[in-house]
Amino acid sequence: MKRTPLSNAAALALGVALCGCCSCLKPDAKSPAVAVSGTPAVSVKPGINEEFLKPDLNPNQWVERFEKEGREVFDHRREIVAALGLKPGMTIADVGAGTGLFTFLFADAVGKQGSVYAVDISPVLLVHLGRRAAEGGYGQVKVHRGGEQDTRLPANSVDRIYICDTYHHFEFPAPMLASLKKALKPGGEMVVVDFKRIPGVSAEWMMTHVRAGQEVFESEIVAAGFTKVGEPLTFKDNYVVRFRK
Ligand SMILES: C[S@@+](CC[C@H](N)C(=O)[O-])C[C@H]1O[C@@H](n2cnc3c(N)ncnc32)[C@H](O)[C@@H]1O
Repeated sequence: MKRTPLSNAAALALGVALCGCCSCLKPDAKSPAVAVSGTPAVSVKPGINEEFLKPDLNPNQWVERFEKEGREVFDHRREIVAALGLKPGMTIADVGAGTGLFTFLFADAVGKQGSVYAVDISPVLLVHLGRRAAEGGYGQVKVHRGGEQDTRLPANSVDRIYICDTYHHFEFPAPMLASLKKALKPGGEMVVVDFKRIPGVSAEWMMTHVRAGQEVFESEIVAAGFTKVGEPLTFKDNYVVRFRK
């Protein structure tokens, strides 16, 4: 698809319009980090989102990294989307939408009657998502600025939550999980795709970049009140796990 370049100002205005509110694209207000327990929240992986938060991030560089053959989740994207059981009219939140690899596949699956919240914390990627939605005529895609500890999604608003290659980017998993649980409709499902991280097997960069393996992440998610209901797919480097509220 040929893309017409927009100026940054036009793209930002477009993003705001798509979002339906200005606040979601404003810089995050600095509020004290407080965990769900009421104790101060401490980042479990300080700096992991530094690149994504840069104002001069080049979205095309990330498109090249995320949407290329050889990236396991890209190669298996259609199987992954099928495993979510999306139906026309459903609402899904793509949390950590990145460049929109899955956002627009979800939009095709839920159709014009459905909705896709493309949630991210990266100001530049949010503008990129808004531009891509507008250029593709995806009115069902709502670009949504989340916080580092709170998705800021409306309560009981989504049938599915999808978190791909992003759970390990959550610096504050406990309050994030509480906000995700709140956003999910009763009976709704959350699907997490992340790296297996097996010592002695996984690549060194993965061992350093991803703070923990599948068992630890699953136990955090279960401790937050979710129930594991299946593991529909597994790949060489990535697992796919379904949870219910
Ligand atoms: C490795 S990228 C994955 C992007 C996309 N899911 C994919 O697989 O192509 C991680 C994304 O998560 C975003 N992110 C990090 N922490 C987040 C949070 N608390 N809420 C929403 N997005 C977050 C980053 O800005 C980045 O776009």
